[in-house]
Amino acid sequence: MVTIRKVLRAGHPLVRQSAREVSDEELSSSDISDLLEDMLETMRDHHGVGLAAPQVQAGLRLLVYEIDANERYPQVEESIGPKTLINPTIVARSAEMVTDWEGCLSLPDLRARVPRHQWVRVEALDAEGDKRTFRAEGFEARVIQHEMDHLDGRLLIDRVEDTQSFSFVEEYQRYHAGRAE
Ligand code: NI
Repeated sequence: MVTIRKVLRAGHPLVRQSAREVSDEELSSSDISDLLEDMLETMRDHHGVGLAAPQVQAGLRLLVYEIDANERYPQVEESIGPKTLINPTIVARSAEMVTDWEGCLSLPDLRARVPRHQWVRVEALDAEGDKRTFRAEGFEARVIQHEMDHLDGRLLIDRVEDTQSFSFVEEYQRYHAGRAE
């Protein structure tokens, strides 16, 4: 049965801990498939576009994402996923950085402008345990970098360069959404 799990917020010590790799034995276990299913449903329930295991109190290097316009992200234009990345690593990345708005389920109602690599090449196991290498760019690359940061206990607030961009969602929608900045 799928369970909507509690999403830890910033301040909970586990949000700041590094996660460990998923072992081969764990990969084929029902615990991991249950966790992945719960994470997808938890992410959708909270209108998120990505979720990392440490956010639901599981200290493992895995994440899910699904990109589609929703009520938290009405400006999103692409439609990608759902995707599962297990033990992901970034094997190459663009020199070019792009700064854009980001939110996080562990920082409810907060938005800020965060610089990220424009594209990343990622190596990870998928939900079946098969190794995949792929290139992601734009918003997908942003989501992957954000979620992978969670695996190392890092939050978007650690990456913000322009601290004046910190905004609550209501003010973001009112003053910043859809404007070129
Ligand atoms: Ni987050």
